[in-house]
Amino acid sequence: MKREQWASRTGFILAAVGSAIGLGNIWRFPYMAYENGGGAFLIPYLVAMLAAGIPFMILEFGLGHKYRASAPMTFAPLHPRMEILGWFQVMVAAVIACYYIAVIGWSLSYLMFSFTQSWGNDANAFFFGSYLKLSSDNSPSSLGTLQWSIVVPLLVAWSFSFFATFTGIRGGIERLGKVMIPLLFIMVLILTTRVLTLPGATHGVDWLFRPDFSALLNTRVWADAFGQIFFTLSVGFAIMIAYSSYLPEKSDINNNAFMTVFINCGFSMLAGIMIFSVLGYMAAEQGKPLTEVVSSGVGLAFVTIPTAINLLPMPWLLGPLFFASLLVAGVSSHISIMEAITSSVMDKTGWSRRKTASLLCGGGALISLAYATNGGLLLLDLVDHFINNFGILGSCLAELICLSLLLRLDGMRNHINRLSEFSIGRWWEFCIRYLCTGLLSILVISNLVTDLSTNYGGYSESEILWIGWGMLATMAIIAVTLATRFNDQTLTTEA
Ligand code: PHE
Ligand code: NA
Repeated sequence: MKREQWASRTGFILAAVGSAIGLGNIWRFPYMAYENGGGAFLIPYLVAMLAAGIPFMILEFGLGHKYRASAPMTFAPLHPRMEILGWFQVMVAAVIACYYIAVIGWSLSYLMFSFTQSWGNDANAFFFGSYLKLSSDNSPSSLGTLQWSIVVPLLVAWSFSFFATFTGIRGGIERLGKVMIPLLFIMVLILTTRVLTLPGATHGVDWLFRPDFSALLNTRVWADAFGQIFFTLSVGFAIMIAYSSYLPEKSDINNNAFMTVFINCGFSMLAGIMIFSVLGYMAAEQGKPLTEVVSSGVGLAFVTIPTAINLLPMPWLLGPLFFASLLVAGVSSHISIMEAITSSVMDKTGWSRRKTASLLCGGGALISLAYATNGGLLLLDLVDHFINNFGILGSCLAELICLSLLLRLDGMRNHINRLSEFSIGRWWEFCIRYLCTGLLSILVISNLVTDLSTNYGGYSESEILWIGWGMLATMAIIAVTLATRFNDQTLTTEA
């Protein structure tokens, strides 16, 4: 069967940008920047973007285009064992798909709540108590019971990704991207221009961009910057390879990769300015220092922002705009995660798109119910930590090392340059082979040292062992099984 193709270059870029821009840009970037010294974070962030983000994006676009297959089948021809890495990346995507959707579900609930600010005066108690009904024992393994008020929005959120992966590249993904991404930019632009003129807003923005150069000596800051770049660009776990495998024969690579990266990172700045304007206004309004109104992590989007919305002019407009942005950004990213998994399974088994999408979305929806329980938030926190610090960084590092050894990078560069509107020089090979690989190794080792010496989040030893490390081990075992056991069933995708 002939592989599907994007109908237009714009369609491809909007889909890639839709994958890149996600919850990570709207809530993760601002608090990462804030926690790591505001303006000083921007330097490591930009270095990570140029040294790792752009080269990696070019590499993945090039790989998908050249081998015309999802990650496992792109890696398999390089070395039979490399298919394992492809499936491990698919597993990373699958784990993310199941918890990312929970946050999208919350956003959908909050979109509803925001019309009347039904979170009331105490947004903190509302989120953790009334909405999530979080159990008080700090234990990610005691899940308690299903919360229907979370299950329903979660399933609605699944229906978007199901529709997109079921109908395919042109019918679903490209068409949705053309509506969602422009809509997202319009909403965030309206929000940002409105909140920037509030009293105290510029004070907040100053905070975000205020340099603290001593932070540059802190390895944690660099680790967070690189981690954020890989997460925000969706590189290193099968997604961009899958999307670029649907590129037509004659397609620019370099310019598309630069555009995707710049649009994503520009959007993060915009979202950062928006969030910190609101925080600055809130601090001024409540007469508190800015540091006292910020709560990090999920609290930023679901506690601090609702509290701020109560104080804003026109809360019934700005509130829904904020949560609709979060929803649209999240859904377009989730679609890309599900497409990466769907295309990998289709390539391997030869199953139809409809069958594959139905099975995967159905199974994923079932698993994701674990996050719609009393212990869901804690489970999500622990899983997210292990996926970000080891799953994503580990699979990025493994990809770089294996490709540096097995792929003729100069050949790849020639392939890419032949197609592209402008050429990239040998610096690209240097970044992939040495710079990114070296920096990532340091990061993974430093993360390992931290996690082996302290229990993340104060969770119990056994929960960290079974849920955190156990999950990574299970993912690896499944990857090995998929790559080595079913080879006789592999159907070639060649037309
Ligand atoms: N890039 C997305 C973001 O910034 C995150 C993402 C994660 C996308 C996993 C796809 C898969 O939120
Ligand atoms: Na992003």
